[in-house]
Amino acid sequence: MSLISTINKQFALDVQKGLSAQPKTLPSKYFYDKQGDALFQQIMQLEEYYPTRCEYEIFDTYKMHLLDLFQKNSDKPFKLIEFGAGDGHKTKVLLDYFTKKDQNFQYVPIDISRNVLNVITNKFSRSYPSLDIQAFHGDYFEALKSLETDQNYRKVVLFMGSNIGNFSNTEAVHFLQQIHQRLSKGDLVVIGVDLKKYPQRILDAYNDKKGVTRDFNHNLLKRINRELGGNFRIDNFLHYPTYNPQTGDAQSYLVAKEPHEVHIKALNQRFTFDAWESIYTEISKKYSVKEVEVLARESGFQLIQHFFDRNKYFVDTVWQKN
Ligand code: AVI
Repeated sequence: MSLISTINKQFALDVQKGLSAQPKTLPSKYFYDKQGDALFQQIMQLEEYYPTRCEYEIFDTYKMHLLDLFQKNSDKPFKLIEFGAGDGHKTKVLLDYFTKKDQNFQYVPIDISRNVLNVITNKFSRSYPSLDIQAFHGDYFEALKSLETDQNYRKVVLFMGSNIGNFSNTEAVHFLQQIHQRLSKGDLVVIGVDLKKYPQRILDAYNDKKGVTRDFNHNLLKRINRELGGNFRIDNFLHYPTYNPQTGDAQSYLVAKEPHEVHIKALNQRFTFDAWESIYTEISKKYSVKEVEVLARESGFQLIQHFFDRNKYFVDTVWQKN
């Protein structure tokens, strides 16, 4: 089959748009192909990458409180709807506890990767044979739409791991407003947010000593080479993370070390790079607690409770639709 007939057209269009823009940019959602998923798994194990450990600690410490909130003022069982199911490592803490307590609830993992969903469904149906698992393959909003008429359950949406930080603030408000629209009165959301802190700690989390995050960023160029027939020389680009303590924007760039040209076969196009020209690849926004509260208000939710890790590096914040 020719390259053109097997390519992901949206990927090709987004690459063309991003590399033709001034300044150049590439969307971070394209980090996550098979190689990128594996690198992200490694990132979550890194000493420097604290968010995963913090959220694990929060769930482990407050699983009882979370269960109380999920049941409070409701006579219905709940549906735990997880956006971006991942490897389920942190969710397992909750599922372990809820199943041990013999709770009547349904687990709805949602992911755009069929592979991720299969892995998680197999894993959890083996660990919890009596748990009702209704995996949904597709977009988060499609999933909520399909659940809109189901009034037999209270919906509890889990959006963990600081994924909200991969949106700009405006995008985050828009995204959360859309979720709010598709929920019913009394439904809950639990959002994992990485907090502003000692700036070097944040920079280190995106610039680990082993260079896994560098490889993760470089994988975007490798993916263009693999899937679109690009000829990026990876060594020509520096991985360059920045952090602005005022805006909370942790941003990653790929910076060209010398002037050169790159050809992308699937686009039949050349892109020139000046020396030190950069490609902006990712935002991982950090919030203050006050900013989290503004986010809740602007997206129409009522803040119910914050759960912090012992260092206050991270918060899982619970909001309700009234
Ligand atoms: C998935 N997301 C929340 C991670 C983050 O921290 O923004 C992705 C990541 N990028 C580099 N390291 C981890």
